[in-house]
Amino acid sequence: MSKWRDTPKLELHLHLEGAAPPAFIRSLADRKRITLGPIFDDQGNYSYSGFADFLNVYEQACEVLKTPRDYHDLTRAVLSQSASHNVIYTEIFASPDFCGNSDPVAWQEYFAAITEAAAAARAESGIECRFVGTCVRHFGPEKAVKAAQRCAESAGEWMVGFGMGGAEGFMRPADFARAFSCAAEAGLPLTTHAGEFGGADSVTESLDHLGVRRIGHGVRSIEDAGLIRRLAEEQITLEVNPGSNIALGVYGEWADHPIAQLRAAGVPVTVSTDDPPYFHTDMTREYDMLEQVFGWGEAEFSEVNENAVVAAFCDAATKTNLRRILNGA
Ligand code: ADE
Ligand code: ZN
Repeated sequence: MSKWRDTPKLELHLHLEGAAPPAFIRSLADRKRITLGPIFDDQGNYSYSGFADFLNVYEQACEVLKTPRDYHDLTRAVLSQSASHNVIYTEIFASPDFCGNSDPVAWQEYFAAITEAAAAARAESGIECRFVGTCVRHFGPEKAVKAAQRCAESAGEWMVGFGMGGAEGFMRPADFARAFSCAAEAGLPLTTHAGEFGGADSVTESLDHLGVRRIGHGVRSIEDAGLIRRLAEEQITLEVNPGSNIALGVYGEWADHPIAQLRAAGVPVTVSTDDPPYFHTDMTREYDMLEQVFGWGEAEFSEVNENAVVAAFCDAATKTNLRRILNGA
């Protein structure tokens, strides 16, 4: 067993549907008599080749998640997985697009089911969870605005931020400014995927046009020294997902991953898993690999956890409590 399994961890970048265990999706499909396309390999894991196909398989798996009850059960399964790696705080991306196509009434029912599951998980294991509502970039700016409106309406105790995932090559960040303004007006702090399949310009444009305070991935910022200085000066936190980047081929090998260079340059980095079963990873494995490849230990993991507390979108009292747990109190 890994020496890092019991270490308390914070995770800021986890997609609710992307964390669905393949067996969970299969059993729902069987129960509903839905025939899924060839999205699993012989071992029963998700199977895809490259980023575009990953998004396609992800959306096919979502086809079985059709009711608030499904999302309740999914949330329980995901949080139980996270708690088993001693994740004490997680921010989960939840997308109104996948929950009733951003219909206002349907979304309220889905979100009630999701938050009920989060409350039950907290009562069971102590795990704190908050939701960052997301739009899907390749669904286009109009749908993004609808998703942002739903998140704005749900802003509060559980819905603490807004962001965007999906195909980074689709349109430019500025095209989504209206969705981000709508969420910001409701007081939601912002993040977006950038600098994963897009280069450093994609990060710069997101900072300039979307008002984001964090960046999902952001690793390709390493290609622009001026941008690195800006991230360090403005203390823009990167939600780094090294195992995801290796699995999707952003970097060929762990040794090529820039997380250690970004940290050395003073950029606040955090560690997450993105879509763990798709990438054959979990938080413990990320820690194991960071130790093995970059020699990270207690000092570095304490630092990334503190970075995550600072950048988390939750309230100050929750942050105080998280620091208490991290300090072993
Ligand atoms: N949605 C789920 N995982 C994603 C990723 N790694 N990049 C962009 N969108 C995503
Ligand atoms: Zn992601």
